[in-house]
Amino acid sequence: MAYNIVVIAGSLRKDSFSLKIANALAKLAPATLKLEVITPAGISFFNQDLESAPPADWLAFRDKLQKSDGVIFITPEYNRAIPGVLKNAIDVASRPYGKSSFNGKPVGIISNSPGPLGGVSAAKTLQNILPGISGPIMQQPETYLTAIGDAFDAEGNLTKDSLKPVLQVYIDAFAAHVAKHHG
Ligand code: FNR
Repeated sequence: MAYNIVVIAGSLRKDSFSLKIANALAKLAPATLKLEVITPAGISFFNQDLESAPPADWLAFRDKLQKSDGVIFITPEYNRAIPGVLKNAIDVASRPYGKSSFNGKPVGIISNSPGPLGGVSAAKTLQNILPGISGPIMQQPETYLTAIGDAFDAEGNLTKDSLKPVLQVYIDAFAAHVAKHHG
């Protein structure tokens, strides 16, 4: 039996590097994990006025997370934080108060950027947001992927040789993190 892991790529962009990383990670996952890659596309803006009759897209997103055994965030960095669409998705999943759909789920974080800092501030933003609404966050290996613009070909295949072992180490560590938590 494999653990079901939801991988949230935090960008709506068609050619998103975050999405390409998520898909590459799914190919490298060991047999103990089954990764489903999603994006925040289609998740309505959070509005507390709607909480008594939540939109179907909120319920579907929450349900997917609740049925999962863990979550990995692949986040770009927007202005030294996470993109608004990703924050909105997290806000949706975090409610109703005390019933976050991330509760008890082991969580992983990978940030990335075409630039030299690897989106580390976005990863740190998630480290601020998640502790109150998720299960244990995997602390190591810290994974902030720099110069990501060179990493894929036009079809989205991972072509940067140095990145493959980094992602392999990450997903193997995450498999151990999930097994430790659920085992
Ligand atoms: C960016 N980008 C960016 N990069 C970075 O390293 N630090 C930052 O603070 C920002 N800020 C930022 C703000 C906004 C509004 C945009 C549109 C972009 C560049 C960003 O890393 C780049 O566009 C990535 O390609 C976005 O991720 P995806 O869509 O490829 O996953």
